[in-house]
Amino acid sequence: FWRARVHSVRLLPSAAMSTLLINQPKYAWLKELGLSEDNNGVYNGTWGGTGEVVTSYCPANNEPIARVRQATMAEYEETVQKAREAWKVWTDIPAPKRGEIVRQIGDALRRKIKVLGSLVSLEMGKIYVEGVGEVQEYVDVCDYAVGLSRMIGGPVLPSERPGHALIEQWNPVGLVGIITAFNFPVAVYGWNNAIALICGNVCLWIVAEVLEQNNLPGAICSMTCGGADIGTAIAKDERVDLVSFTGSTHVGKQVALMVQERFGRQLLELGGNNAIIVFEDADLNLVVPSALFASVGTAGQRCTTTRRLVTKCNFFFLSIKDESIFRFIVFCTSTLYGPLHTKQAVQQYLAAIEQAKQQGGTLVCGGKVMDRPGNYVEPTIFTGLAHDAPIVHTETFVPILYVIKFKTEEEAFAWNNEVKQGLSSSIFTKDMGRVFRWLGPKGSDCGIVNVNIPTSGAEIGGAFGGEKHTGGGRESGSDSWKQYMRRSTCTINYSKDLPLAQGIKFE
Ligand code: UN1
Repeated sequence: FWRARVHSVRLLPSAAMSTLLINQPKYAWLKELGLSEDNNGVYNGTWGGTGEVVTSYCPANNEPIARVRQATMAEYEETVQKAREAWKVWTDIPAPKRGEIVRQIGDALRRKIKVLGSLVSLEMGKIYVEGVGEVQEYVDVCDYAVGLSRMIGGPVLPSERPGHALIEQWNPVGLVGIITAFNFPVAVYGWNNAIALICGNVCLWIVAEVLEQNNLPGAICSMTCGGADIGTAIAKDERVDLVSFTGSTHVGKQVALMVQERFGRQLLELGGNNAIIVFEDADLNLVVPSALFASVGTAGQRCTTTRRLVTKCNFFFLSIKDESIFRFIVFCTSTLYGPLHTKQAVQQYLAAIEQAKQQGGTLVCGGKVMDRPGNYVEPTIFTGLAHDAPIVHTETFVPILYVIKFKTEEEAFAWNNEVKQGLSSSIFTKDMGRVFRWLGPKGSDCGIVNVNIPTSGAEIGGAFGGEKHTGGGRESGSDSWKQYMRRSTCTINYSKDLPLAQGIKFE
């Protein structure tokens, strides 16, 4: 499993690198994960990868870490076949026993959590504590799935016919293809994997060591590293019963159309354009750290990142107390913050700043690429933009916060909802009536609706996902497991008569 973690590398062309970070003593810990200069990008019970070689670069200094050999289409084909074979074994194992395997996966993650968190940090760019945090999310969802493995099931419903039982039976969909995003290479896969596994599915992805130790086919969790070619193959492949895609709305739409074309199932976790709304009665001691965490955490590269801060106050920002803006900026320049993932992201950051200026925005702080190695940019705040300025309605996956002034609750709720995306949202208030209006039908239209906490940092116990252009999927907690199963309505006649429903007499 540890070796396979390199699946999350950025897909840059291979370069002839003599000074890979993995060879430097400082990064010797990478070898603890079984990583080497060249790594296999395919697992289906055996390791492979004879396709294009890509290099993983560290966003903090743009130096090469190590290389991965990706999957060819022939390897993809072989992997899907093996995964479907493995499903026959896996789905016969009782759900609580499958839960036991998932428990072991969680334990294996626990044992390596620090070094895995370091790897996430090194190749994704998020800070170490956030890297560990997302491995923790996978651990948590494993624990959750273990319990769930003894709880999932359908109701026995009252039949209108005497001597009949009406039962809802849930069966696994089969093979789940999981296409994940660079920003949460562990957690997003983990939500899908742990729940899909206890439901009795096999996954096109990886958790090799635990499976092999339990004499189970490794192809239960297969992996094929690749680019758009492999992604397209998964989307179009009738043998992939569910395609779970996390990533941009733009690519998600292409995937969704391909999957729909074959009437396949899809689970989409796409973009967000999340707002924090600060009312006049907000507790600033909560607002400031919340806005900080949600807007600059992961350098603005979460789907749940706060991109819009909508405030009632007349002056400038969180003007309820003048020092609040100062506190915010001081926080912003501290070290809770890593680089953007790629150089392209730096270009997107600069382009968004230009657009924000052109559309009437005032740059309050930040706005520059930092003069140091790596893809570091300054956390940035704009004021003065219209709530519906095109740039405010655009999800740029960088740390830029648009601060917008509102007058009425109705207006604030409407602005929260007027963007295409519908992932996460937060209000800060002490007014209980407002809280329940926010949760209700005329409140937030998002999948995640918070009060007095940031838009990011959701727990795994709740269903995670959003509405509209966010794709409508729900992963992780609550009844998200249903997305990985198919429902059969089963009517069983245990009488000697044949009464028809609706009282029809067919005679
Ligand atoms: C993502 O950005 O794709 O709520 C997922 C959060 C995390 C997950 C984010 N638990 O911010």
